[in-house]
Amino acid sequence: MNKIELVFATNNQNKLKEVKAMLPDFFEIKSLSDINCFEEIPETEATIEGNAILKANYVSNNYNVNCFADDTGLEVESLDGEPGVYSARYAGLDTNAMKNIEKLLFNLKEKTNRKAQFKTIIALNLGGKQFLFKGICKGSIIDQLRGTEGFGYDPVFIPTGFDKTFAEMSLDEKSNISHRGIAFKQLIDFLKNLSI
Ligand code: IMP
Repeated sequence: MNKIELVFATNNQNKLKEVKAMLPDFFEIKSLSDINCFEEIPETEATIEGNAILKANYVSNNYNVNCFADDTGLEVESLDGEPGVYSARYAGLDTNAMKNIEKLLFNLKEKTNRKAQFKTIIALNLGGKQFLFKGICKGSIIDQLRGTEGFGYDPVFIPTGFDKTFAEMSLDEKSNISHRGIAFKQLIDFLKNLSI
């Protein structure tokens, strides 16, 4: 089977690791640094979908490659979908995961509804066409941090049907049920069908 070469438009090593672990051998995944793309890719749209499309188009148009880009947000029901598209910079531009979590827990202090979901959108630009894939993982936000694995909001997110946070799961366990895992499974199924 011919290898499918695709650029994954990310600089996030955690995501690269997660995605590579899910992909079969017939994909040759290149990172942005592999194609000498070192500039900041714009993420200026107001929706998760918009940002995934913006990033994929930026890389395809500027580097003339097949590529996919993902964008993820945590949507909390009682906060009207916040932090959503602002998940990475919820506590400000100069922030980190811990500060984002602190702000989230503060805003949820008086709330009894702790329902939340992660949403991932993948935009794939392949052969001049664009395809979108979506993964949702529903769960709830707890009021204390638990676990040391993963990244971002993992220590406070318990997926529905489980009694541990994402940060208490192995990478495999998380990928099986996660928003990103679901979206990437769809991408992979799609590409497998193309390559038959
Ligand atoms: P990105 O679009 O994948 O870079 O995600 C944006 C932000 O959402 C990240 O900076 C994290 O704060 C959060 N996030 C994305 N995926 C996850 C995850 O799997 N677990 C926890 N937080 C995540």
